[in-house]
Amino acid sequence: MRKTFLPFSPPKIGDDEIAEVVDTLKSDWITTGPKVKRFEQEFAEFVGAPSALAVSSATDAMLVGLAALGIGAGDEVITTPMTFCSTVHVIEHLGARPVLVDVEEDTLNIDPGRVAEALNQNTRALLPVHLYGHPCEMDTLLGLAETHGLYVLEDAAHALPAKYRGHAVGTLGDLTAFSFYATKNLTTGEGGMLTGNSDLVEQARIWSLHGIGSDAYTRYSAEDSWSYEVVLPGFKCNMTDIQASLGLHQLRRQTDSQVRRRVIVRAYDEAFANLAEVERPARRDEVEHAWHLYVLRLNLDMLTIDRARFIQELCSRNIGASVHFIPVHMHPYYRVKYGYDPDDFPVAYRNYLRLVSLPLNLRMTDSDVDSVIDAVVDVVTSHRR
Ligand SMILES: Cc1ncc(COP(=O)(O)O)c(C=O)c1O
Repeated sequence: MRKTFLPFSPPKIGDDEIAEVVDTLKSDWITTGPKVKRFEQEFAEFVGAPSALAVSSATDAMLVGLAALGIGAGDEVITTPMTFCSTVHVIEHLGARPVLVDVEEDTLNIDPGRVAEALNQNTRALLPVHLYGHPCEMDTLLGLAETHGLYVLEDAAHALPAKYRGHAVGTLGDLTAFSFYATKNLTTGEGGMLTGNSDLVEQARIWSLHGIGSDAYTRYSAEDSWSYEVVLPGFKCNMTDIQASLGLHQLRRQTDSQVRRRVIVRAYDEAFANLAEVERPARRDEVEHAWHLYVLRLNLDMLTIDRARFIQELCSRNIGASVHFIPVHMHPYYRVKYGYDPDDFPVAYRNYLRLVSLPLNLRMTDSDVDSVIDAVVDVVTSHRR
């Protein structure tokens, strides 16, 4: 058994990120400025999107994205219960109604068949989440959107870099939100990016900075720097050049990082292939998975312990693990407001009880990977029925 605790998802920050942050701190400009601009351009190029807006989180990217689409009171937005709460919060923040639909058994992504059943005359947008980095069934979702005149804003917090039928996530729907939170495939500490066509992204940019028609860097660089116009009651969620300093270098490392993530995934896949008590993560042929998370599903009827105890047992073997996610409809705010029962979304609920996310990050050595495998095998063999 390993002697030191293996944290679930520590960040990996290189010397070039640190040097870039220091360079920014010593410069005349530390908030939204030239490095944010460069990061936006390089990110858009990386995913192949026409335009990108850097903001303070994926949550805010979704908020200003929905605002730019004109979502508000009286509108319904269809999304999934199998996500982080903020995917649903942003719909509430705009006074619209979130409509949850259950997920597919294999990927745990939103089920397009159930989306079709949930449509009505108030539906304005779909908000699919590419869970764990596995893209949703986008052809069907985009087809529904086209037929019914709906917008599609994707939560790609987990999905950098991912592809669906050869097309990069970030280029599929109207708008796509990425997360650069501390644990994500690319981190700026906190941060996010919205990609899409230039008109929508520029509208979201106005929403992201008080509703001011031009940004601070442009204002303070211009001759008449004191003058500005507020055209919307906007939010305040711009990214700083300090964060972009991290992002610029993290972005350059994405391709190599993905190679390493896949090595770890292959090692897990091989080790767990013959362990009947656990199911390995789903993946479909038409996608390139971003492998943000490696999530096992326990076959609980073959074990004498439940999921909570399984995670405790991993922890007692010095392995950090987690659960993604407690379905949104089980949280008190949503449960009470919409009167949900756990079984209203049975696929999400039943699978939630079996989920265990294993460490999958760039700080792990091969021996760390082996120690996770040993711990999982040991917990399973010690508690099989
Ligand atoms: C699926 C999903 N959506 C949205 C978010 C929110 O991301 P951020 O922390 O950048 O706002 C997260 C973060 O954990 C997430 O996992």
